[in-house]
Amino acid sequence: MSHVTHFNDVVDGLSEPWSPRVLAQVNDHFVKVAKVEGEFTWHAHENSDEMFWVIEGELVIEYEDSTVALGPGDLHVVPRGKRHRPRADNECKIVLVEAAETKHTGAEVTAHTKTIEEQLVGFRSGQDGQ
Ligand code: NI
Repeated sequence: MSHVTHFNDVVDGLSEPWSPRVLAQVNDHFVKVAKVEGEFTWHAHENSDEMFWVIEGELVIEYEDSTVALGPGDLHVVPRGKRHRPRADNECKIVLVEAAETKHTGAEVTAHTKTIEEQLVGFRSGQDGQ
């Protein structure tokens, strides 16, 4: 129960953009960290809201009818079912919160798609204090 996770330790280990890694599970939600750069895929999550919290850099969330610009410290929730495309002109570090069963590219399967297993690398052993 005494395990402590530091955002920087996990984010600094990520070499690939748009490849989220699970930091923690809170009830039926995952808290994830990701480095993002460039344009992601247009997608929607039919059964989960998705929270974006920018730690470092600038992130844009494009919707079909509007755009949200986020800077360090800014937090935004994408409503379930709403199509969106995240974009970062330069490297940006973010925290994501979404229902554990959520696929990060929604129903789309693209070159960006990572399985939940890939997102859980290092997580379960971390919970055991290893
Ligand atoms: Ni999304």
